[in-house]
Amino acid sequence: MNILLLGGTGTAGRSTLPVLLAAGHTVSVHVRSDLAAARLQPLGVSAIRFDAEDPEALVSVLRGQDAVIDHRVSLPPTSRSILPGAWRSFQHLRDPALSLLVDAMIHAGVPRLVRDLVTFVYEDGGDAWLDEASPVSASGPMAANLLAEAHVSRLTAAGGQGVVLRCGLFYGPDDRMSVETMRLARRGAALLLGADAAWHSALYTGDVGTAVLAALRVAPGVYNVVDDEPLRRCELAALLAQSAGRRRIHRPPGLMVPLAGAAARVQARSHRISSQRFREATGWRPRVPTRREGWPAAFAAVG
Ligand SMILES: NC(=O)c1ccc[n+]([C@@H]2O[C@H](COP(=O)([O-])OP(=O)(O)OC[C@H]3O[C@@H](n4cnc5c(N)ncnc54)[C@H](OP(=O)(O)O)[C@@H]3O)[C@@H](O)[C@H]2O)c1
Repeated sequence: MNILLLGGTGTAGRSTLPVLLAAGHTVSVHVRSDLAAARLQPLGVSAIRFDAEDPEALVSVLRGQDAVIDHRVSLPPTSRSILPGAWRSFQHLRDPALSLLVDAMIHAGVPRLVRDLVTFVYEDGGDAWLDEASPVSASGPMAANLLAEAHVSRLTAAGGQGVVLRCGLFYGPDDRMSVETMRLARRGAALLLGADAAWHSALYTGDVGTAVLAALRVAPGVYNVVDDEPLRRCELAALLAQSAGRRRIHRPPGLMVPLAGAAARVQARSHRISSQRFREATGWRPRVPTRREGWPAAFAAVG
């Protein structure tokens, strides 16, 4: 397939690109700087610098593509996340920018879009397993996740194949936020919100790319993509402590959650997520099935 990869220079992109190339796809990567283009050069992909917000430029780049993979995201730094306007870029990429992309794909006749989004849209499920039919709710900036899903389904309604991957929290040695988590854990702390018994679901960064590859041939729709073993917050804190060589990990008090903004509040929910639908539809399996393997390996890899 000829594939246009947007957001290909981040964590998900670094996982996806080699997998697509190994599978024989021809990949063009959208870049926003000459430095990013130079970094991609050794991989033998075509790095294209264009204004992805310009409808004409977008349609022209899209012509001849068979699929688009959109990994774009812009998150505010944690220290600024409760400030007004901090989530503007995040909302922009999930709403007007994605809407523009879908319009341009329909115009250019590109049938397939794979858009990775988040599992944070699910309501707190307590101890129940959550699948794609479980209730969702999102407010504040997080509502943009559901708007994004609606844009992707618009492509399907127009005769294309829109696929949303609701991914668990990425973790791995090559992820900026994970490196920060490991640094903090080595000092005996973790920004892990939520009750001790609340479930948390994740995905090893190395498994993002294989999931995206599998999504290129799955029926349109919404799919959860997480590893095999959700962990309770208390288990995750103990695992981080053990991997970091600490006796215990200090977490923010529960009192902080209501004050920490809408994005933090959804991260405190109990999410015991199942990928069964995606696994049955594609045969995909995570290479790192549990954080009990993945976190110690990530700590060892960063040294
Ligand atoms: N990280 C997680 O834990 C996690 C969990 C579940 C789902 N996801 C989802 O997976 C997707 C990818 O996340 P990630 O962790 O790979 O993010 P990331 O590492 O921050 O990478 C973001 C990518 O988006 C690009 N980008 C940022 N602002 C842009 C803009 N205005 N226009 C065009 N491109 C822009 C960046 O390009 P530059 O290199 O040029 O800045 C980069 O390639 C996101 O949709 C995210 O919500 C992430």
